[in-house]
Amino acid sequence: NWTAASFAGAAIEELKTTIGDEKVVLGLSGGVDSSVAAVLLDKAIGKQLNCIFVNNGLLRKNEFDEVLASYKDMGLNVKGVDASDKFLDQLEGVSDPEQKRKIIGRVFIEVFDEEATKIKDVKWLAQGTIYPDVIESVSVNGPSATIKSHHNVGGLPETMNLKIIEPLKLLFKDEVRKVGKTLNISNQLIGRHPFPGPGLSIRILGEITREKVRILQEVDSIYIGEMREQGLYDDVWQAGAILLPIQSVGVMGDERTYEQVVALRAVTSTDGMTADWVHLPYDFLSKVSSKIINNVKGVNRVVYDISSKPPATIEWE
Ligand code: XMP
Repeated sequence: NWTAASFAGAAIEELKTTIGDEKVVLGLSGGVDSSVAAVLLDKAIGKQLNCIFVNNGLLRKNEFDEVLASYKDMGLNVKGVDASDKFLDQLEGVSDPEQKRKIIGRVFIEVFDEEATKIKDVKWLAQGTIYPDVIESVSVNGPSATIKSHHNVGGLPETMNLKIIEPLKLLFKDEVRKVGKTLNISNQLIGRHPFPGPGLSIRILGEITREKVRILQEVDSIYIGEMREQGLYDDVWQAGAILLPIQSVGVMGDERTYEQVVALRAVTSTDGMTADWVHLPYDFLSKVSSKIINNVKGVNRVVYDISSKPPATIEWE
């Protein structure tokens, strides 16, 4: 009979036995999975766990500072590394989605590797891999049909010869959230929507610039902020804004404008494999749209994505 509490208890004991007095490194992403994995390990081995949280410059507005602070409040042994410039420089001029993912995956490994090497005698690499990650990387990214190369699974520091430990490997997302709850992780963290590893890079269609990242962060922050304010956040599995690579004509006062278009997306899902678009209330959409157009310079049009998966995917790239 599976319960989150008994899972957590058994997992902590097993981690203690397996790891002994050796050191572990773990990459925190700000998401539910890596956070729950970190707290389990923290309970099992305390300061033998070294967490690294990398800012790739493609996170949500203020996310790096806020999430880093909450990790520290939780007592985790975490180092924040701001590598934004490295990522954004490497992405310059790149518009192909798979190319973006490859670059981000590679730079992440470089940055992570460099930090992990600074930890003396580290023997283990812990990851927040969950069951659907394993499945999706086999079925979606199998040799015959690569739809998107989600880079969560595998690929980390080979040169360091680390042993891999994945305490959540057999769990589904809802189970991970339950385990997080029994570990007293805040609802704010546990209830967070999934967010892709490549972050806003795959929500900026076409080439990425610092200015586009800034615009999308502002738009996203208004959208998600309003969603929280109106109590809709927890009814949605995942939401985000997409910056389209087109301009459209508008009118502002007496002036003609020719500016960018953003699309809003919100879906319900259980595992991300299939998803339905959410029938968000019109008054909510209307408020968000005016707030975005009135406050974010460079955007003069907002559209809402009414496609489900399949055939559309959740992300546009
Ligand atoms: P799609 O767009 O394939 O997304 O319907 C399904 C879920 O996966 C997330 N996603 C990614 N996550 N690296 C990630 O870590 C990626 O490259 C990536 N692409 C999509 C997406 O946000 C959704 O939750």
